[in-house]
Amino acid sequence: MSKIHVMDHPLIQHKVALIRDKNTGSKDFRELVEEIAMLMAYEVTRDFPLKEVEIETPVATAKVKMIDGKNVAIVPILRAGLGMVNGMLNLVPAAKVGHIGLYRDPDSLKPVDYYCKLPVDIEEREAIIVDPMLATGGSANEAIAILKRHHAKNIKLVCLIGAPEGIKAVSEAHPDVDVFVAAVDEKLNEHCYIVPGLGDAGDRLFGTK
Ligand code: PRP
Ligand code: URA
Repeated sequence: MSKIHVMDHPLIQHKVALIRDKNTGSKDFRELVEEIAMLMAYEVTRDFPLKEVEIETPVATAKVKMIDGKNVAIVPILRAGLGMVNGMLNLVPAAKVGHIGLYRDPDSLKPVDYYCKLPVDIEEREAIIVDPMLATGGSANEAIAILKRHHAKNIKLVCLIGAPEGIKAVSEAHPDVDVFVAAVDEKLNEHCYIVPGLGDAGDRLFGTK
């Protein structure tokens, strides 16, 4: 089964509370999503391998450990995942960015695939999928399947809010993928929106409603 990491650090909880508020406008929403993604990157990168390098301090030669950021690909699910990219890049600036375009069909609620552009060496990179919302899990499962078809082996999923249904769906379909969320909500409503959630993440980020 997937390992589920619920990142309930007080700073993250505070910022998640602010993005849930319907009175938070797009500018603040965008800034907060980026900040939460940056705070989550701290934990998501905890198991990153380090390489030993030699540097000169003003006093002596020192063997130090550094992250090999060239081994990372951040993969937002369009559109809303875009809001999390810069926060992650702040901590892993050498990462490459791939894009997967999916939207949820309003009637079937199944993901519709419309775009995919990944780093050419994706199979050698740790792929970190970012998307604020994990509702039914259909979009996340499809993004993971696309990455696996491109031979990505090491995949993590990072979402801000997860519904129990979506977490279960990903964990069953892709038990090798660790899932990181900032909050686990109560349920999905009849339109498969997360309750209490934050509404439509893409619309709130980009002001399209
Ligand atoms: C939202 C969200 C996820 C998906 C989650 O995207 O950003 O990608 O829904 O729902 P699921 O877990 O039931 O698949 P949406 O389909 O609204 O597309 P958008 O970001 O382009 O608005
Ligand atoms: N997509 C969203 O943006 N919000 C939800 O609550 C569910 C899917």
